[in-house]
Amino acid sequence: MTIVDFDHNSREHVDKAYETYRRHRSECPVAWTESHGGYWVLAGYDEVFQVARDDHTFSSTKGAVVPSTDVGQLLPIMADPPELERYRTLINPFLTPKAVKEQEAFIREITDEAIDSWIETGSADLVMDLANPIPAKLTMRLLGLDPAEWRMFAEPLHDVMYTRPGTPENEDGQRRVLSFSQKIIEEVDTRIATPKDDMISRLLASEYNGVKTSRQEVIDLARMVIFGGMDTVVAALGNIFLQLDRHPDIRRRLIEDRGLLPTAIEEFLRFEAPIQGFGRYVTRDTCIGTQSIKAGETVFMLWASANRDEKVFGNNADELDIERMPNRHLTFGVGGHRCQGSTVARTELRIVLDRVLERIPDYKVVWDKVVGPDTIGSSYGQRSVPVTFTPGNKLNA
Ligand code: HEM
Repeated sequence: MTIVDFDHNSREHVDKAYETYRRHRSECPVAWTESHGGYWVLAGYDEVFQVARDDHTFSSTKGAVVPSTDVGQLLPIMADPPELERYRTLINPFLTPKAVKEQEAFIREITDEAIDSWIETGSADLVMDLANPIPAKLTMRLLGLDPAEWRMFAEPLHDVMYTRPGTPENEDGQRRVLSFSQKIIEEVDTRIATPKDDMISRLLASEYNGVKTSRQEVIDLARMVIFGGMDTVVAALGNIFLQLDRHPDIRRRLIEDRGLLPTAIEEFLRFEAPIQGFGRYVTRDTCIGTQSIKAGETVFMLWASANRDEKVFGNNADELDIERMPNRHLTFGVGGHRCQGSTVARTELRIVLDRVLERIPDYKVVWDKVVGPDTIGSSYGQRSVPVTFTPGNKLNA
């Protein structure tokens, strides 16, 4: 058994994450760390794949984040089979390609509205002034909540995702997340009294094989859509804005041919997974590769490391290749819990990037003002990406 000094939440891990992953893949794809009470760190594609595909041996009921945080119950992510299938089936209809297509005009409208609010000035913060509001407003709209109230949900979540567990900021964020849950409870209760034509009301009226969805289950499903839908996309966008500045050649190609955006987005997502890893709890003695693992232990699947596995992605796994094909990255997970919002995420990324490349194609990142993450334990993204650009006109001037 290989014991490593590893803590995915630590400040030190942020700057050397990919170097550490590479070393783990070649020396110890299954390694033990004593951090956070001890857990197995899985770095290779095969090991991560094995665990994510076996929901019976590797349970999600204690949550996906290591160490577990006190943010309440989230469904389906904290469910195992057979309940898992029921919860996924209940929310699937709201996240299908057809349902997402109907949101495209709204995504474009809020993106242009955000850009209009600063395009004449020649400077902006692409995280605070663009990436933050888009997924937050869309998630609110998907649920049937008022998009204007997006900050009430997005800000506490952001604070939890970007601060280290155990710090006062993180604990404060967790408390505020619990208090926004109160708002969801109120919204659910309002709809029990007077149903509307929205996701929460429809979930309240839903059933699966004769089992009626309970009030509490609707609250936990709505909370998961908020958790899944907001900061993940913000993180992806912040990282991509930086990559487009580092690689002017890639930016130029995308400006000239937006048809490359879908494969480029997959590659950006592979290259820097916004969620670097998720955990599972071991239900019975088992083996991962040649390493025996005991019931009761925790394993941590490094999606981000699997995405750079040379055995799957070849010798250029550490390079950005916007036409990479095939690209079987694990950024959205794999198996029973695979992300149900991947179409939403891809659509948001495509529309926001299209508008940025169209309206501020020459933006330059002010690198000495970029605020990166203090931890990448939950979300790997930027807190602030200031840019300057040639001022443009508002669309509806
Ligand atoms: C780039 C953006 C996103 C990334 C990187 C991402 C990543 C993930 C990952 C890795 C999982 C798997 C969890 C596991 O195996 O334990 C997951 C699950 C989930 N995601 Fe996403 N996600 C993104 C965007 C979204 C969006 C926009 C939504 C909703 C609007 C969403 C909703 C969900 C839900 C409901 C689950 C739980 C599925 C289950 O447990 O069965 N995600 N996501």
